[in-house]
Order: sequence, then structure tokens, then C-alpha cells
Amino acid sequence: MEEIKVLYSEEAIAKRVDELAKTLYEKYGDEEVVFICTLKGAVFFACDLLKKYKGDARMEFLRVSSYHGTETTGKIELNLSISKENIKDKNVIIIEDIVDTGHTLAFLNQYIKEMEPKTLEICTLLDKKIKRVVDIDPTYSGFVVDDLFVIGYGLDYDQKYRNLPYIGVLKKTKKDL
Ligand code: IMP
Repeated sequence: MEEIKVLYSEEAIAKRVDELAKTLYEKYGDEEVVFICTLKGAVFFACDLLKKYKGDARMEFLRVSSYHGTETTGKIELNLSISKENIKDKNVIIIEDIVDTGHTLAFLNQYIKEMEPKTLEICTLLDKKIKRVVDIDPTYSGFVVDDLFVIGYGLDYDQKYRNLPYIGVLKKTKKDL
């Protein structure tokens, strides 16, 4: 644990989540929104965001896995799907934990688009913009981060650290781990 540096405290995250919830409500007002939480990483963020969101919300879950060597291959596999009837003609927001190369998000975006939502936006907790390989950007992001391997508040390293209440950095970069 002593090798973790706090990047965003519990308080800083709560403040930003509150702001995002207000921004989304200003946009959607009383129109229903289907929030899609991507498992497992976005689960803390999605729960906190939805608790603060004052509008009419539904919640769905998706699970994908991506295969990383030293670098992302871009091969994504869907492990938990959603049925089209829950998406078609609805306002949909994909909730992500972190966008890195963008491969995962591009896959999810395409998967949901094919279900013909009325609108589709992306809300990510963290955006590792500098690492982007695929031309895709989230509509909303909590924080833009440098090329650091971050953990906590849902994010893991080897399935560990998800339960930290803050977002921290393991001192080594991802490719050194
Ligand atoms: P992408 O497909 O390269 O954009 O990778 C996105 C996924 O990689 C995220 O949903 C995370 O599961 C994982 N990921 C990328 N960077 C980090 C990180 O710094 N910490 C933890 N997980 C990460």
C-alpha cells in the first residue's frame, strides 16, 4: 500500500461526480436515460453518479474483456450483453472507468449504436488522452490523466485495489509492471 500515491482523493472524486451528475441532468432534464455501466471497473463510479443524478434513470450492465500484452491488441470480447429492446429509441449513456487506447470504447460504442438508440453519449471517469490510438473521445470525463497506471475506486491491477476509496498511482508505469 505504501507504493500508492493518491492522485484524486475521495473528496475530489465526490465533488467531480456531483458536477457530472448536474451536467447530465441539465442536458437530459426529465427525459429518461439508460446508463450502461461497464463491469467491473466503472461500478463504483456508476453507482455514485446515479445516486447524484436527479433525472429518470435506468441502469444496464455490460462486461467486456480486452487482451493486453505489453501493449493493447485491440481484441475485445463481450462477456455480458444487453438486449436491444432496452436500448432502441432511448437516450443512452455508456459509463466507463478509463479510456486508454480507445479500443474498448470503440467496440462498445459500435455495439450499442447497432441497437439504434435515440441518442448515445459516453461518460468516463478518467481519460488517458495521451495514449489514444483509436479516434474516439468520451463526451464527458471526470479527469484527464497522464500515462500512469491508476488504481482504486473500481480500477484494478491484477484484480486488486478496486476497493480503495480514492484513485491512486502505482509508482511504476503500466509497461514496467
Ligand atoms: P483501452 O481499450 O486501451 O482504452 O483500455 C480500456 C480498459 O483498460 C479500461 O476499461 C481498463 O479496464 C483498462 N485500463 C487502462 N488503463 C488502465 C489503468 O491505468 N488502470 C487500470 N485499468 C486500466
